[in-house]
Amino acid sequence: MFNREVYIERRKQLKTKVKDGIILLLGNNEASMNYPDNTYHFRQDSNFIYFFGLDFPGLVGLIDVESGDEMLFGDDYTMDDIIWMGPQDSMQEKAVHVGVKKAMPYKKLFDSVQEAISRGRKIHFTPPYRGDNKLLLHELTRVSIGDLQEKASLELIKAIVDLRSVKDELEIEELKKAAAGGYEMHVAAMKMAHPGVWEQNIAGIIEGISLSNGNPPSFPIILSQNGQTLHNHVHSNILDEGRLLLVDAGSQTSNYYASDFTRTSPVGGKFSQKQREIYEIVLAANNRATELSKPGVSYLSVHLEAAKVIADGLKQLGIMKGDVDEAVQAGAHALFMPHGLGHMMGLDVHDMEDLGQIYVGYDHEIRPVNQFGTSALRLGRRLQEGFVITNEPGIYFIPALIEKWKSEKINADFINFNRLDDYYNFGGIRLEDDLLITADGAELIGDRIPINPGEVEKIVCEGAK
Ligand code: GLY
Ligand code: MN
Ligand code: MN
Repeated sequence: MFNREVYIERRKQLKTKVKDGIILLLGNNEASMNYPDNTYHFRQDSNFIYFFGLDFPGLVGLIDVESGDEMLFGDDYTMDDIIWMGPQDSMQEKAVHVGVKKAMPYKKLFDSVQEAISRGRKIHFTPPYRGDNKLLLHELTRVSIGDLQEKASLELIKAIVDLRSVKDELEIEELKKAAAGGYEMHVAAMKMAHPGVWEQNIAGIIEGISLSNGNPPSFPIILSQNGQTLHNHVHSNILDEGRLLLVDAGSQTSNYYASDFTRTSPVGGKFSQKQREIYEIVLAANNRATELSKPGVSYLSVHLEAAKVIADGLKQLGIMKGDVDEAVQAGAHALFMPHGLGHMMGLDVHDMEDLGQIYVGYDHEIRPVNQFGTSALRLGRRLQEGFVITNEPGIYFIPALIEKWKSEKINADFINFNRLDDYYNFGGIRLEDDLLITADGAELIGDRIPINPGEVEKIVCEGAK
């Protein structure tokens, strides 16, 4: 938790951005795995933690925009709870820690919301994503469960996006800590990239590194020699000499700030010429994207420039053909990079995705592009100082997608399909860094995890000793 002034100031800012009514910020509850008391690791809601700082289940924050009153609803633990859980702060003590004066029992929440409704006041809430909070919101507001997403407050969503998009110094320090954890995880994975090693063994070790630093990874680890599957959570293979191991993983801090990195290593420690050629193109796209990222530049334009580096590199190899600008305009590069260049990152690895990507990544000026590949770009809008984003170009050879495009002659003017026969077992390469947008450019968050092919080979080989 940060000190209480941080949360007082954040709530003050929020009140300046919402005109009237009451704001409800629902904390998360424990989530059961297989019976009520056997729960997943608790994860607080990011909007709640941003404004109310408390990392406990069963809380709701209420802000009365007009009177300025702030309240926390939740129940004190009973003696029975304390016997099982150890000593706990009272609700009043918790409220004091985050600068809130009024702590009330949970059931009083219903009275407060009912009173606001009876006086015709606006009830602002964010789109709920957990079943229990959908039920709670339904009970509080009588909005049907199916309508809750649509009835979420756009005014509140936009206010939160405004505040959370720009990271302050405290947050940047947290993000650097999360990056340091991610660095350790990735170097450990590289060292284990050897033939005969079970992928799950590497996934378990790096998850353990994150946990042993105090916190779980910031998202379920993606790790496979089948890196052509973009979010591959299946770690069942035994690594084969000569394949590529793609690892997309990051850590988080106790305050929930995330890191999100991808590295791709040659199993056994030496890139083949074919792998190195593709690797160099992805690395060039990554470096170009970092160079171009600065305030005022749209991330959509950076995405398209990275796509051009990819199309140009693949053209040099005879895999693509024709005019590079036209190829990217037609979306031909998306056969190889069917995802976006990156996304916002902060308290969530895909920051604020619960609020709706359209509000986080786009605005009235820059609208989503409805073309395969670029349609998956989560962040298109102009960058601002203080944004934290990922830069994650990749090249993948996805047999099913190649077959589809080949048989339907999709973008056939730009792709030499017969050159692809040699790449069906290639896998995929993604190289992901985390960037802070500065006053005049972008800087990497944390030390750069080894990325030049020679450095990566060296680290993999160190692991064999
Ligand atoms: N870790 C998922 C992603 O890179 O977006
Ligand atoms: Mn990632
Ligand atoms: Mn990412």
